[in-house]
Amino acid sequence: MRTHYCGHLQEAHIDQTVSVCGWIDRTRDHGGVIFLDVRDRSGIVQVVSDPSRTPASYPVAGQVRNEYVVRVTGKVLARPLDSVNPKLASGKIEIYADTIEILNPVHRSLPFLISDTDEVREELRLKYRYLDLRSERLAKNLHLRCEVVKVIRRYLEDECGFREVETPILCRSTPEGARDYLVPSRVHPGEWYALPQSPQLFKQLLMVGGWDRYYQIARCFRDEDLRADRQPEFTQLDMEMSFMSQEEILQLNEGLIRHIFQKIKGIDLPPFPRLTYKEAMDRYGCDRPDTRFGLELVDVSDLFAQSSFKVFSSAVAAGGIVKVLPVPGGDSAISNTRIKPGGDLANLVAQYGAKGLAFIRVRPGDTIDAIGALKDSLTPEVKEELLRRTQAEAGHLLLFGAGERAIVNESLSRLRLALGKELGLIDENKINILWVTDFPMFEWNEEEQRLEALHHPFTSPNPEDLRDGKPLGLETRALAYDLIVNGIEVGGGSLRIYQRDIQEKVFAAIGLSPEEARDKFGFLLDAFDFGTPPHGGIAYGLDRLVMLLAGVDTIRDVIAFPKTQQARDLLTDAPSKVTEKQLKELHVKSLA
Ligand code: AMO
Repeated sequence: MRTHYCGHLQEAHIDQTVSVCGWIDRTRDHGGVIFLDVRDRSGIVQVVSDPSRTPASYPVAGQVRNEYVVRVTGKVLARPLDSVNPKLASGKIEIYADTIEILNPVHRSLPFLISDTDEVREELRLKYRYLDLRSERLAKNLHLRCEVVKVIRRYLEDECGFREVETPILCRSTPEGARDYLVPSRVHPGEWYALPQSPQLFKQLLMVGGWDRYYQIARCFRDEDLRADRQPEFTQLDMEMSFMSQEEILQLNEGLIRHIFQKIKGIDLPPFPRLTYKEAMDRYGCDRPDTRFGLELVDVSDLFAQSSFKVFSSAVAAGGIVKVLPVPGGDSAISNTRIKPGGDLANLVAQYGAKGLAFIRVRPGDTIDAIGALKDSLTPEVKEELLRRTQAEAGHLLLFGAGERAIVNESLSRLRLALGKELGLIDENKINILWVTDFPMFEWNEEEQRLEALHHPFTSPNPEDLRDGKPLGLETRALAYDLIVNGIEVGGGSLRIYQRDIQEKVFAAIGLSPEEARDKFGFLLDAFDFGTPPHGGIAYGLDRLVMLLAGVDTIRDVIAFPKTQQARDLLTDAPSKVTEKQLKELHVKSLA
């Protein structure tokens, strides 16, 4: 039906007769001459219908409305110099329409204009996602996504010898961190499949199967609390490789990520710095630090262990910590009302369990201002050491967190991010990538009073931490690593356990009895008996990676048909009720 895409027409096509197909983006009547912007996937071209030059198309040009589907045939001409549109790729030319065919009109009033979706509520855009998909904004993101996947496939297959293998979607339910989406079996009453949270075990079994280097653009499903960078179904670039050390895996992956940024953004990234988990927690209070700006935390627990300021000394006595967030210029930028109870900064840290924010204002000549009890508690030695460690000068505001380690870290790291944004310390054009390594193997599950795997229970403990018969515990580090881009966890992986006895020990450490381990993971333990190679891998959140490359704030903008934060698809209105007959066939009784 067409000879060219709208957005591809250029000066080189001048004097050619072309046909384009697409949607009417805009119509304008300029004193009897009608201008139509016709849009397709590639962009927009201006079409002119002039009764004196193109009389056949003129009556139809007067009938068309926004979003009518049309086919236009006519001659490409140069636009007069004063009407060149530098914003359009095709802005130097226009088509004089010999014919305009209406292929399909619009029968209802449009919920919004495609050329102006910025102000439209997201719910409305999601309900009419097929209209939003016509917008340049979404088209650009989805083109980019396609391009990123192409670059990844080429690099992994052609440069690194990876092969793509598909793994099942209907799987056995295995504990992996989030809640499973379950699918009842019709032919096996009372039995259920689970949708994969990731292809983790299958990719390990591919290594046992001798596959050596596997990757997959894999769909994953997790029933968890959603936020801007989480969807119930999302896509991973999933990889696994055999006979490689952690260092070799990190190098290969650094090559991949550098290649993606080079091809897509034309940026040559420097080598990725590495932080251990401990360093990241000490300096930033979180394991995915945004290192585009400073504002590093400083531990001052030892300075205040004996302090007369009870809030601090009792926190340390109870096994907690005292940390400071030093804010240069904060003395003038941040008022007391914002820090004191009820203030926005106090409220922010309270969301993460902090009881309050103590503060010291550093004034010229190393004088300070603070609430009396804190000020009185500072001996000259403590004050001097505090100023030395925080490198505080006149104009600094020192914000303190005291209490349980996890709460202090989380609340101060959130505060750090908020102030980094507020004070304009984050250069939005900067790309800052780092590896975080040496994660702990386990964390403590307070509710269930047991250890649980921080990554997943197939991650290899660091053999250094098991020397001399040392048991597995909270001190054990894992051979695990995360890739952090601008404070967002884009990927995570590890070396895996490949020996049966170690896997059994890890299962035991997280409270799985041998019978439960056999019941849930017998197939994996069996595989370990048949010659499993040393192996490891990683998975990247493809949506997150594309989100960062596209420079948008939510992964919903890089997914064609995303769900809301409430895990709803507003377009098809899923999830939805099903019939009693369907439930009966599946041997499921509805309680709702
Ligand atoms: P992990 O659970 O860390 O590791 O997931 C890997 C990456 O997937 C992305 N991601 C998500 N993206 C969007 N929505 C979600 N709900 C979501 N959950 C995770 C993140 C994350 O870094 N099997 C292991 C990987 C391995 O060990 O090889 C795994 O799935 O960017």
